[in-house]
Amino acid sequence: MENKQLLQKPDYDAYANWHSVTASKSVEQVKKVITGCPVWKETAMPKTVWASELGNAQNVVLDFGCGLGRNASMLRRYCGRVLGYDLDSMLSMLNSQPAPLLYDATSSNLQELLQQQVTHVYEAVVWQHIKWSSGATQLALDLITNQPSVRSIYSCWNAAVVHQSAMVAYLLAKGWRLEQSGEVAQDQLVTLANVPHRWYLFAR
Ligand SMILES: C[S@@+](CC[C@H](N)C(=O)[O-])C[C@H]1O[C@@H](n2cnc3c(N)ncnc32)[C@H](O)[C@@H]1O
Repeated sequence: MENKQLLQKPDYDAYANWHSVTASKSVEQVKKVITGCPVWKETAMPKTVWASELGNAQNVVLDFGCGLGRNASMLRRYCGRVLGYDLDSMLSMLNSQPAPLLYDATSSNLQELLQQQVTHVYEAVVWQHIKWSSGATQLALDLITNQPSVRSIYSCWNAAVVHQSAMVAYLLAKGWRLEQSGEVAQDQLVTLANVPHRWYLFAR
């Protein structure tokens, strides 16, 4: 029930109403909305992030707001299981694709996925669009941090978004550490051209 509130809240900024985007557009058009540009390739993580986790088949990563699976293969290099969490409408489009296996499981129920012994949470350009005042990101962070198996959270944002500092403060107040942070290198950025993005890596 709690999770449904998270999903149904009209908590997004003007950038995208994902239900109507998925209902009215083709897969190729939705991919362009996701990245804001015609290029479709994974968001490379800086080499220092999860460096010691490479090839660790015991890890389970939750791709929060997985979209159409852009980052799934990259995540598989760090984790034996990759779980995709997104809205039902986006997951329907993802799962209708005749693609190789991207995710071991997908669901719009965050709690259900987290209970699958998730060790790592990854999010790319999702929380930046959720209005902080809606409380939806805090609710998601509460569910994530309440899951004892989760030991690391990676988050990548458009650096112009002001409420990223609120997200950092929220996790620090919960006793998490900001382990690393930085700016995404321009040649690794696949989203609106020339918009700097910042990344954060949190640990318990
Ligand atoms: C800009 S796209 C990024 C997709 C993916 N992370 C990527 O980098 O390709 C934002 C994604 O967040 C998803 N989303 C929006 N609201 C959400 C919510 N409340 N819970 C989970 N995912 C949500 C959207 O459906 C969309 O797939």
